[in-house]
Amino acid sequence: MSNVKISPSILSADFSKLGNEIQDLEKAGADFIHIDVMDGHFVPNITIGPEVIDKLRKYTSLPFDVHLMISPVHDFIKNFADAGADIITIHPEATNDLVSSIKKIKFYNKKAGVSLNPKTSIDKVLPVLNLIDLVLVMSVNPGFGGQKFMSETLEKVKILRKEIDTKKFKTQIEIDGGINIENSKIAIKAGVDIIVSGTTIFKENGGDLKKNIQLLKTG
Ligand code: DX5
Ligand code: ZN
Repeated sequence: MSNVKISPSILSADFSKLGNEIQDLEKAGADFIHIDVMDGHFVPNITIGPEVIDKLRKYTSLPFDVHLMISPVHDFIKNFADAGADIITIHPEATNDLVSSIKKIKFYNKKAGVSLNPKTSIDKVLPVLNLIDLVLVMSVNPGFGGQKFMSETLEKVKILRKEIDTKKFKTQIEIDGGINIENSKIAIKAGVDIIVSGTTIFKENGGDLKKNIQLLKTG
C-alpha cells in the first residue's frame, strides 16, 4: 500500500445529494474532498459556487480541496476562503499576477495551489514552487469528468518531484483527470502525493467507494 492520499472529485457525485455523498466519501476513507468549481468561461462547463460549498462545509471535517477553474479568479478568492475551502487552487492563466493571488490565498490562512493544464508549461510554476503548498498537474483538459488520461503529463510530475526533493520544498504534487486503478500505479511511481479521481471512485466496482479508494491507494 502506498501512502498516496486520495481526493475524490465530487464532479462525478450525485448533485441532488452532495452532503450525503461527501459523508459517504469520508466513511469510505477519503483524505480530501476535491471540489471542481467551473464558470463556463475558463472552461466550457458550469458547476457550483461558494454558496454551495458553504452549505456542504457542515457535512465533513475533511479538507476541502477546491479547484477553481474560473477567470478572472483573484477577486473571488475571499468568497471561497469564507465558504470553507482549505486548499484553493488556481490556474496561472486566470490571474494577471500569480504571486499576488497566491499571497491573497495565504492571507486568508488557506493552502495555495497552482494548476497546470496539459498545455501549460511547467515554467509557469517553477518560480513560485517555494510559495505554494500544492501543484495540481492536470492529466486531462479541464472541464469534464470521465476523460482519457494523458500520460505525457507525467513528465511534469517527474520534473516537479526532482525539483521539490532537491530543493527540500514542502510542496505536494496532486494529479487530476482520467486516473483509474491501472494508471494510478504509474502516477504514484512518477512521484505524486495526492490523486484526484471522480469517475473511477464513483463508477467502478458497482460504485463501491471504499474499495475504489483502497485500489487507487495500493498503486
Ligand atoms: C476536470 C476536473 C477533474 C475531474 C476528475 O476538469 O478538474 O477533477 O473531475 O474526474 P475524472 O476522475 O472522472 O477524470
Ligand atoms: Zn479538479
